[in-house]
Amino acid sequence: TLKLGVMASGSGSNFEAIARSIDEGELNAKIELLIYNNPEATVKNRAQKYQIPSLLLNHRDFSNRKALDRAIVEEFKARDVEWVIMAGWMRIVTEELLKAFPQRVINIHPSLLPSFKGINAIEQALEAQVKITGCTVHLVDLEVDSGPILVQAAVPILPNDTPETLHQRIQIQEHRIITQGIAIASALQGS
Ligand code: GAR
Repeated sequence: TLKLGVMASGSGSNFEAIARSIDEGELNAKIELLIYNNPEATVKNRAQKYQIPSLLLNHRDFSNRKALDRAIVEEFKARDVEWVIMAGWMRIVTEELLKAFPQRVINIHPSLLPSFKGINAIEQALEAQVKITGCTVHLVDLEVDSGPILVQAAVPILPNDTPETLHQRIQIQEHRIITQGIAIASALQGS
C-alpha cells in the first residue's frame, strides 16, 4: 500500500480521482494527508467527503518558498508519506521538497510537455493554434514542468473551444492518467 501525500491549490478534482480509485480498489494506496495552500480551495471539502485528513499551509504565512516546503516535508514525514502528488499545486517547489522525496514527487500538467510549460498552459495551447494538446504526469525535478514523463494523454482542440471547454475535456483525461502515473512510478521504483 503506497502512502501518498497530496498537495493541491484548487477544486481538487484530481485529488478526488485518486481518492476514488483507491476506494474502488484500482490503486493500492492510501492518502495520508492533503496539504492545500489557499484557504478558499474547495479541495478541502472533497477531503472531508472521503474522510482524509487535510491541512492548510497558507504560503502567505511563510517568508519564502523553501520555508513553505520545509513545513510540507515535516508534515508528510510525520505521517510516513512515501510519494508526493502535486494535484493542481500552483506553487513552484524547491529542493527542500525534492531532496526529501528523491524521484518521488509526481506532478500533473495540462499540456503535452515539453510544450506549454508554466501557468496558463491551456491558453498557451489555444493561442498557438495547435490541433492537439493534452496532459502529462511526470516526476518533478528542479526545473518547472520538466522531469521524466510517466504518462500522457492527447486531447483534440475543437474549433469553438474556449479555455473552459478545453479544460473540461483535458480533465477527463487527467483523472484517468493521474492514478496510472502513480502506479507506473511506483512500479519503476519497485515500491
Ligand atoms: C489541473 O488541470 C492540473 O493539470 C492543473 O491544475 C488543474 C487542477 O485541477 N495544474 C497546473 O496547471 C500546474 N501548473 P483540480 O484542482 O480540479 O485537480
